[in-house]
Amino acid sequence: MTLSVEINKVKFPHPVFNAAGPKDVTLDELMVIGRSQSSAILMKSCTLEPRDGNPEPRYYEDEFGSINSMGLPNKGYQEYGKYTPILKATFKKPVIASVSGMKIEDNVKIIKFFSTIQELDMIELNLSCPNLPGKPQIGYDADASDKLIRSVKDVCSKPLGLKLPPYFDFVHFEQMAKVINKHTPDFVTCINSLGNGLIIDAMKEETVIKPKGGFGGIGGDYCKPTALANVRKFYELLNKDIAIIGCGGIKSGIDVFEFILAGASAVQIGTHYLKEGPSVFERCVKELEHMMKKKKYSSLDEFRGTLKVIE
Ligand code: SIN
Repeated sequence: MTLSVEINKVKFPHPVFNAAGPKDVTLDELMVIGRSQSSAILMKSCTLEPRDGNPEPRYYEDEFGSINSMGLPNKGYQEYGKYTPILKATFKKPVIASVSGMKIEDNVKIIKFFSTIQELDMIELNLSCPNLPGKPQIGYDADASDKLIRSVKDVCSKPLGLKLPPYFDFVHFEQMAKVINKHTPDFVTCINSLGNGLIIDAMKEETVIKPKGGFGGIGGDYCKPTALANVRKFYELLNKDIAIIGCGGIKSGIDVFEFILAGASAVQIGTHYLKEGPSVFERCVKELEHMMKKKKYSSLDEFRGTLKVIE
């Protein structure tokens, strides 16, 4: 049986790795991901300047998932440029930068810089952080996304992906798919957290996080059906050479299997990495293998996108 995946010549031994965000800010945290069975190391979304992020408390978990309003705390793009050769030499697996500049020129500058880092394998451009007060998620504006993607594609010499927000309406899927098909990135990641949700502590009669009046991005079980729907819809609408990476509520090998059935080439784990720790990657891969054996599949290609629809 083989679980390997290739996205524009970047080889992943299996389809399960970490999502940008949880515990991937410092070199120490990235080393933990490197030592785990995560099939790649995806670094925290970075900006031009280092950021402390939003005031705490800014992360909260309950039995169904999480809410966060981290506000992009990160070390600044140049630090991730320094971490990349260390991570690559130590772990010999794909290293991916996540870029979330505050404006087009920042994204262009950062992506130009990452294009010069030989050891870097891919870049994921974040169009969907919901946690910056006063700054809309660019992925909800098809024209602004079009302009941004065009600007960065001109300077990017690495495989490039887009981290998308969740969409809920078929018209919005179609608008965004048109933009994405025009620029043909190498992959899209569906989805970032469900933006601007609210979790309330009934006993305290209070919000559970401080920034933005308690509103934040929802992750974990709460978002798996939306994530699956986004993978499936983009699988139907995008050119077949654009890979789809699923993200949202994945915590078992069966979840991974479902995302691949819906059309994903690989998956990322966020909330559940924070809940369970680095063992989550190995466990999910073992469970996926078990499921594939049961179903007599020997590669992911045999069932990717083959979801049956009740007639
Ligand atoms: C954050 O740092 O606020 C989360 C990043 C994101 O949702 O893109």
